[in-house]
Amino acid sequence: MAQRGGPVRPARRRFDSVQLAARAAWTLGGNDNGTMITAAPRLYPHMWSWDTAFISIGLAHLNVDRAVRELETLFAAQWRDGMLPHIVFSEDGGYFPGPQRWGAAELNADAPDSPRTSGICQPPVHAIALRRIVDIGGGSPAVDRLLTDGWPKLYRWHEWLVRHRDPHGTGLLAITHGWESGMDNSPRWDLPYAAVIPGPDLPPYERLDRRVAAAAERPSDAEYDRYLWLVEQMRKVRYDADQVVRTSSFLVGDVFVTALFALASEVLATLGEQSGQPSWRIRQLRGWARRSRVAVASAYDPATGLARDYDLRAGTWLSTATLAGFAPLLCGGLPAADENRMLATILGPDWAGHPDLFAAIPPSVSPNDPAFRAREYWRGPVWPVIAWLFGWAFEHHGWTAEAARLRTECLRLVEDGTFGEYYHPLTGEPLGSQQQSWTATVALDWLHPA
Ligand code: SER
Repeated sequence: MAQRGGPVRPARRRFDSVQLAARAAWTLGGNDNGTMITAAPRLYPHMWSWDTAFISIGLAHLNVDRAVRELETLFAAQWRDGMLPHIVFSEDGGYFPGPQRWGAAELNADAPDSPRTSGICQPPVHAIALRRIVDIGGGSPAVDRLLTDGWPKLYRWHEWLVRHRDPHGTGLLAITHGWESGMDNSPRWDLPYAAVIPGPDLPPYERLDRRVAAAAERPSDAEYDRYLWLVEQMRKVRYDADQVVRTSSFLVGDVFVTALFALASEVLATLGEQSGQPSWRIRQLRGWARRSRVAVASAYDPATGLARDYDLRAGTWLSTATLAGFAPLLCGGLPAADENRMLATILGPDWAGHPDLFAAIPPSVSPNDPAFRAREYWRGPVWPVIAWLFGWAFEHHGWTAEAARLRTECLRLVEDGTFGEYYHPLTGEPLGSQQQSWTATVALDWLHPA
């Protein structure tokens, strides 16, 4: 359908809510390899840490035991020092870098030998997933087991982040690789990545991702060289958590990860109270949440109305405007006037209210920004899971009308039933991998809002 003066939109199928739920369940069944629900059938045939958190939320609507089991499978791969690894590898190949290239178990005694894992982490959204599972399936023996046995594992994961990823002790958590942000090639990382210079000893490699997804929808080769070079640097220090922070040529205080940590720590504390966990641990979680909330609020830039990341290597704030700049809306902590301004901005014409959008959902980069690339991974597309996070946080903060509107718009985006990894924000075309598990599961959660 051609829009007068607007983007040309390809015809799209529309499934009703029953059909859509059935397709989502079918997608998850198709991605189940017997031991785990993989992130996507061909591009990502393994378990990704934050994908699994979202996957477990949707699964809770279908089979709460299976939702619990997915998180338990992830937790079984937790490193002995507490880190939850970003990938838990299945027996399938077909993804690069695979377990051999990471070499985590060979190099670091804290990494499990089985299953094999990567050597970095991803955003700490797991406590939020646990909260949602308890809300959906509370009272079931499996959920009780997860609260009893899984809660201490999540506590150790949060403790690991505080111990190893808060180099300045301010509460602003650092990432050592763009993959750790989950937003791999976001323009947020362009400046810090410009200082990552791959050495001549970068071992050769073959990209497998572009056999599945179009090159224009994936990071470039120059970006991949940097991603792989950082892995080489980590291998050199055998993934020792503190040495990685000391030596990696990429070290950035990530305001979005920090906001998620603050929110998730608060959520974990409340779950701990409800399940009789030690009160000193609950107090500690609340203290971590408070400190990280302050760090997020301190990253607020009155000039732009957005929060910034901090390049710890260069010693400079990063003011690139992306969706991550709305991090304070996730965890709270801003003065009311700044928070209201930020809420108005995310809903306004530069973001979710942009008149050319297919659905009123904030994309990863504003269409009004010269850096906006509608099809290119984290440089413009709209990501349903990020919208889910904002929607959940809006609900949590009592912005129920805004949360409900976002949910309606998100369902309009995903009602074509393809469950794209991300979508063209102007046309609604699904991009990247199709049948992405986390998109199917957030759709299930939007279909069952109670
Ligand atoms: N998201 C990365 C990829 O695209 C890995 O975490 O492969």
